[in-house]
Amino acid sequence: MHLSVTVLCLSFGVFINNAATGSDWCYTGCDHTPNHWHELPDSSCGGQRQSPVNILTSQVEKNEYLQNFSFVNFSSQDAFKSIINNGHTAKFLLKDNEVELSGGGLNHTYSTIQLHFHWGDTQHHPGSEHAIDGHRYPMEMHIVSLMKGLSVEQALQNSRGIAVLGFFINATEDENLSSPWSALTSYLLKDTATEVDVTHAISIDDLIGNVDLSKFYRYMGSLTTPSCNEVVAWTVFQEPIPVNKILIEQFPIKTGLTNVYRPVQEIHGRKVYSSPSVVLPSSHEWCYDDHCEFNPSKWSLLPDSHCNGNRQSPINIEAQKAVVDEHLDGFSFTKFDDKHAIKYITNTGHTVKCVLNEGVVEVSGGGLGYVYSTLQFHFHWGSSSHDGSEHTMDSKKFRMEVHIVNKRKDLTLEEAVNTPNGLAVLGFFIEAVVSDRSSSATESEDSHESSDDSDSDSATDAWKKLSGYLAAIQSVGSQVEVTKELSLAELLGDMDFTAYYRYNGSLTTPSCNEAVVWTLFKKSIKVDQSQLAMFPNWTGYRDVFRPTQALHGRTIYTTAGCGELAPTVLFVLLLYFCVSFLH
Ligand SMILES: *[C@@H]1O[C@H](CO)[C@@H](O)[C@H](O)[C@H]1NC(C)=O
Ligand SMILES: *[C@@H]1O[C@H](CO)[C@@H](O)[C@H](O)[C@H]1NC(C)=O
Ligand SMILES: *[C@@H]1O[C@H](CO)[C@@H](O)[C@H](O)[C@H]1NC(C)=O
Ligand SMILES: *[C@@H]1O[C@H](CO)[C@@H](O)[C@H](O)[C@H]1NC(C)=O
Ligand SMILES: *[C@@H]1O[C@H](CO)[C@@H](O)[C@H](O)[C@H]1NC(C)=O
Ligand SMILES: [Zn+2]
Ligand SMILES: [Zn+2]
Repeated sequence: MHLSVTVLCLSFGVFINNAATGSDWCYTGCDHTPNHWHELPDSSCGGQRQSPVNILTSQVEKNEYLQNFSFVNFSSQDAFKSIINNGHTAKFLLKDNEVELSGGGLNHTYSTIQLHFHWGDTQHHPGSEHAIDGHRYPMEMHIVSLMKGLSVEQALQNSRGIAVLGFFINATEDENLSSPWSALTSYLLKDTATEVDVTHAISIDDLIGNVDLSKFYRYMGSLTTPSCNEVVAWTVFQEPIPVNKILIEQFPIKTGLTNVYRPVQEIHGRKVYSSPSVVLPSSHEWCYDDHCEFNPSKWSLLPDSHCNGNRQSPINIEAQKAVVDEHLDGFSFTKFDDKHAIKYITNTGHTVKCVLNEGVVEVSGGGLGYVYSTLQFHFHWGSSSHDGSEHTMDSKKFRMEVHIVNKRKDLTLEEAVNTPNGLAVLGFFIEAVVSDRSSSATESEDSHESSDDSDSDSATDAWKKLSGYLAAIQSVGSQVEVTKELSLAELLGDMDFTAYYRYNGSLTTPSCNEAVVWTLFKKSIKVDQSQLAMFPNWTGYRDVFRPTQALHGRTIYTTAGCGELAPTVLFVLLLYFCVSFLH
């Protein structure tokens, strides 16, 4: 073993933030945790081009320019020089001028200087830095290269000075333990004052294994540790490297470091590109009509589809067959009237969706048995003149339907979509009304309104505000921030939250996960038809509803409301419920 830490620290400048040499940032347990990195001297951590990011595959654009990489000496068995624990990660230093890469749309040759890792903890909390559609892997490996010919200092001044290759690492049980990863992890150490020579024959190719190197994402970002310099051309490979979970556990155990990853950063309008061979689950692959490859009758053929299951939605509700369930009590809402809960409104190409700020609005009661947090609400419509609700009542369609989508608070989104009651969707039918009020809408309208229907007044104003945003999101994929004061409570008006139907169903768009407890309210929302017409008119698409699905023996339950009881219910029962209702 050979000790020479100081020299390397100096020569690699900011790349080495050795705790032992006085680094003043950390991931947890010091003053400068990731939320405070931007306060550090000369920090770029509060910038607009930060890394890591969550890669949303539906927003990724394919780029023909991102051709295959050329790697030099990635297969070299003696490229590794040494390892250090710098107090933040385990870093392997490579021999100078030995390994390099070019191609991959980088426009330059880059010299590889080191590789290091990001991980979670021994309880298998995932610790990759990048995420794909919100999914984080157990670990991530970063191979860091400088634009050839530049010093570290020069590279940090160049907006493309550094290229980092990011590889996700997935935990498996079957991967052979005598792999190159065993050799690598045998070097992991706790001591932050020591640099240890690597003597085993390990190549970068050995570590990468069978990952398809032609499949990658590209975006412009930053270093993911302070000073977060915005100088990195990022490559994130789609396929993870499978590593035995026993070896993954060695990273936290042997280094004594846990959760060494930076949370994902805002994309701030940056584009993420993919190489041509990445198969993107494009949001345009499926549609409601026949103008695409997968119309509703073919949704079941999509990858990971549940659309052929036995508890699909929407359905036709036969009021007479609904079974009264006295456990179905009223709903409780938290911050339902918060006028700043809606973050942005977006045109997804299939619907108009309003996304809420996380963790603000909550729903419980209603026989749900769990607290759910509200994620978003969106709409289903036909055209400006015909009906387009998804559910039907005794085969009657309504003009539109709004779905408020809620996730069980104790689950992540990924867990929720795989849990039978992971999601609770509140469905409301919308009826079109012709109001003289809005046809003569002027600034003076408030002055001559009677005060007894202030609820429907604020509802009308709320719908006007909402539909007012539609002009700004005409193109598919566009979104605008919601800055006007607008609450869910106002949009729903004087809704009766104690009268509804309940059944177990699914998402009504692919992948149709059977994870939804459905609530359909009996009272419909009445909205001026000119505002409803703006949905098909501004988006340019119509008939965005799935046809009703077979019930497959499912029971539909109903609340015991006095006014809405099906005629077949016994008179005695009716009397009982009405009496207990009044008390
Ligand atoms: C690749 O490795 C060989 C053998 O170590 C070395 O001679 C050569 O210079 C390396 N190539 C480059 C481009 O660094
Ligand atoms: C490479 O050049 C192309 C064409 O000029 C440019 O669009 C792209 O952003 C460049 N890529 C990088 C990583 O600098
Ligand atoms: C990751 O590993 C898990 C469990 O071993 C496996 O089910 C999953 O398919 C893997 N993911 C990928 C993308 O390889
Ligand atoms: C790029 O790499 C992939 C996988 O390694 C290979 O199948 C493909 O033929 C390569 N493309 C070119 C143009 O060399
Ligand atoms: C939904 O399914 C769960 C579990 O299978 C069951 O306990 C519950 O009663 C069902 N709810 C309805 C409304 O059918
Ligand atoms: Zn890193
Ligand atoms: Zn929906």
